[in-house]
Amino acid sequence: MIKNLKIGDLNIEVPIVQGGMGVAISLSGLASAVANEGGVGIISAVGIGMTEPGYRKHFRESNKIALRKEIRKARAKSDGVIGVNIMLAVSDFDDLLKVAIEEKVDIVIMGAGLPLKLPACITDPSYEEGTTKFIPKVSSAKAARLIFQYWSNKYDRIPDAIVVEGPLAGGHLGFSKDSMQYPENSLQFLVKSTINELDTFEQKYGREIPLIAGGGIYTGKDMFEILDAGASAVKMGTRFVTTHECDAALSFKQNYINCSSDDITLIDSPVGLPGRVISNDFIKAIQNGKQKPVKCPWKCLKTCNYRDVQFCIAEALFNAANGNFENGFSFAGAKAYLAKEIISVKETFQQIKNEYNQCAYSTEAVSCF
Ligand SMILES: Cc1cc2nc3c(=O)[nH]c(=O)nc-3n(C[C@H](O)[C@H](O)[C@H](O)COP(=O)(O)O)c2cc1C
Repeated sequence: MIKNLKIGDLNIEVPIVQGGMGVAISLSGLASAVANEGGVGIISAVGIGMTEPGYRKHFRESNKIALRKEIRKARAKSDGVIGVNIMLAVSDFDDLLKVAIEEKVDIVIMGAGLPLKLPACITDPSYEEGTTKFIPKVSSAKAARLIFQYWSNKYDRIPDAIVVEGPLAGGHLGFSKDSMQYPENSLQFLVKSTINELDTFEQKYGREIPLIAGGGIYTGKDMFEILDAGASAVKMGTRFVTTHECDAALSFKQNYINCSSDDITLIDSPVGLPGRVISNDFIKAIQNGKQKPVKCPWKCLKTCNYRDVQFCIAEALFNAANGNFENGFSFAGAKAYLAKEIISVKETFQQIKNEYNQCAYSTEAVSCF
């Protein structure tokens, strides 16, 4: 029987967490629609200020303004669970986290780096512990152990849940290209090995730590199998791109529908990690070593050496979000080629539930969807 997801005092009716997708792919439109279906809607904070007119001159201020705006818009459209995804790799991580906390979002997911040292806005005594849930995203059991040990030793607290992401995900990946193939890096294996690591901390703190599994979870069958392996919920990004409510341009969604499995490839991103994308002329040019013009007045990523990079990842992603594929490309998960039509988030949830139920019935399990 499928269980709802509980993260502290948050009760999430359908254990689906929508992946935060930047730049400007998951904003208030998609996040609120997912929250309205009983899942967790996530706004992606990376480069969010690019939607603001003064971004080039005031990127930090624009990011804060846009994030606050999108959180408020999502709240106005939904009473459900709304969160924010903030990459540790962005240079204004602390500023964006502060906005998310001030706006009392339900959840902050922190990926693209190990969130060991907690920023002052969380450790400050005035912070009301428990209001916002903090969830690191990792790609190995070892990384989960390091974070839990560090938080426990240093702050006598632990994360509210953990996201484990396997190598089939869209966007930046926490694996080298070679290691993606290793059996121990399959999502199933990662889920089981991370659960083993969490055991000590569940006992020490006397509570369950939900594990949210993502990366290549596209169908209700995928969901059924990973929950069966021990995950408490799934994180899905790619599946939600081809919805009416996804905040990207129609041509971005159409690009998913038109792609085949052969078009989905890996690149070396200026973030310093591999990224999974849908190939196009832009991608072929950078894979052939072509240099794209880079004008960087703000250095949005801590890890980006903008004088040496081949292209600006923020610009390329934002261009694609707006349908400009001459100067950009889409991030996409390994299963993006399964997208066949653009439908509503409500219909997407219904399809996933139906697919899930078919598996549950065929294994004689009972579903409560
Ligand atoms: C178009 C796209 C953009 C993404 N952007 C981000 C991002 O800005 N930050 C981040 O931490 N993860 C990002 N991701 C990863 C998602 O949050 C999620 O973890 C992933 O999509 C799950 O795997 P799936 O795509 O196979 O469902 C992105 C994924 C996609 C497909």
